[in-house]
Amino acid sequence: MTNLLCIGAGYVGGSTMPVIASHCPEDRFVIVDINEARIAAWQSDQLPIYEPGLEEIVRQTRGKNLFFSTEINRHIAEAEIIFVSVNTPTKTFGQGAGRAADLQYWEKTARQILENSTSSKIVVEKSTLPVRTAEAMERILNSNGNGLHFDVLSNPEFLAEGTAVRDMQNPDRVLIGGRETESGQRAVAKLVELYARWIPRERIITTNLWSSELSKLVANAFLAQRISSINSISALCEKTEADISEVANAIGRDERIGSRFLRASVGFGGSCFRKDILNLVYLCEHYGLPEVARYWEQVVLMNEYQERRFAANMVASMFNTVAGKRIALFGAAFKANTSDTRESPALEVCRALLEEHADIVITDPYAMENASQDLKELAPRVVFESDPYAASENAHAIAILTEWQEYAQLDYERIFHSMAKPAFVFDGRNLLDHRKLYEIGFSVYPIGKPPLTRLVSPGLTPA
Ligand code: UDX
Ligand code: UDX
Repeated sequence: MTNLLCIGAGYVGGSTMPVIASHCPEDRFVIVDINEARIAAWQSDQLPIYEPGLEEIVRQTRGKNLFFSTEINRHIAEAEIIFVSVNTPTKTFGQGAGRAADLQYWEKTARQILENSTSSKIVVEKSTLPVRTAEAMERILNSNGNGLHFDVLSNPEFLAEGTAVRDMQNPDRVLIGGRETESGQRAVAKLVELYARWIPRERIITTNLWSSELSKLVANAFLAQRISSINSISALCEKTEADISEVANAIGRDERIGSRFLRASVGFGGSCFRKDILNLVYLCEHYGLPEVARYWEQVVLMNEYQERRFAANMVASMFNTVAGKRIALFGAAFKANTSDTRESPALEVCRALLEEHADIVITDPYAMENASQDLKELAPRVVFESDPYAASENAHAIAILTEWQEYAQLDYERIFHSMAKPAFVFDGRNLLDHRKLYEIGFSVYPIGKPPLTRLVSPGLTPA
């Protein structure tokens, strides 16, 4: 039996460890966090995060070989392998503010591990970190005077929210980076053994530490780059009557390009893409590569442009004013099947419309609580309504901001009749049947496709 510990019971720790525990029944897993309420939630029937399939796995393993606790120090002492998945947000102060990763929680955790260790351990970076962070961690950990040895490994998480459990059960690859020393390689082998219980060996990649750390940032940068690329072309489609779905399909059929991650949208969100790219940009600058930094920064700038463009298009299409108009935002989560609203484009669109003095109603099946926290400062000006039919009543427009499948199934005939006229739909996810909506009577504005409207406005071609 091996004692494994995970520090940080957030999305990363909370969705990976239960899956690992379920595949390693003879090992003992503890997940700790400084946040007592979060740990209490993990111990209850109401888990703190929503992930399809997670509840069942937690129920199967909790109390058997998976435990949640706030007693960090005690569990550090007992653990042989410690995963660290505390948050590494973008720095808001000092050098690198707005771009570099804030490593204070990471460093604090490293020191806490050191203070509470009485035996040598393997420490695994699960959080996304700048390249060469492991070096600093090794220095701190191995600065002890009592002969303990710490091997630091990098094992970045590639799971996507909403499919975290599935991704973890059946990953494209697992990446483990370690030192090329004998003890480093022993530590790598130990972690490989753990994953090999359910993942075919050929999908477990081992590299040096720095390649592993960098690969995580680069994977996210490449994924986000594809979205910014297709979104940039969506703007051109709207000017030329080309259709972004047709273009994406046509280019995606080239196997060299591939068809995935080519859905034009109101923008990408989530806790990782923006943060990791800005981190990459900062690293490039730090290493004296300003051209490389500017290249990647453009991915983020294009995303901001797309969010702004979407909101501006709404205002322009609604006769250049939304002041006092009720607008229903369908979706607050940064994508479907998650309650997470971090960096959600829906919030940006909401803020932009509020600046134009619109009356905003937000509906979302799982993310309303998070959204109301995020928009706290704007509280009286935003209404939350769980029923999309009630949200759209008397609204001038609906904006689809999250691709929840249930929004495609609504009775839009009924919605149309309850709305102010002319009734607008702005589909920021190209989720709905646009032709059908147009036939019902809506003016429909998709992303990267000609609008379908009977209203003649300058620059727009009526259908
Ligand atoms: C986050 C980032 O999103 C991800 O990119 C990074 O790789 C790891 O951190 P996530 O699990 O989504 O991943 O973060 P979050 O949900 O904020 O969870 C972090 C947890 O760590 C929180 O529950 C927090 O209370 C806990 N924490 C933080 C500690 O237990 N100790 C600390 O010192 C700091
Ligand atoms: C991402 C990475 O996919 C994952 O590997 C990494 O570990 C963490 O970051 P996640 O943020 O959970 O995962 O979501 P993802 O599915 O990648 O979507 C990110 C954003 O891009 C969402 O807002 C999504 O709506 C948007 N998106 C995605 C598009 O706009 N178009 C697409 O074609 C795909």
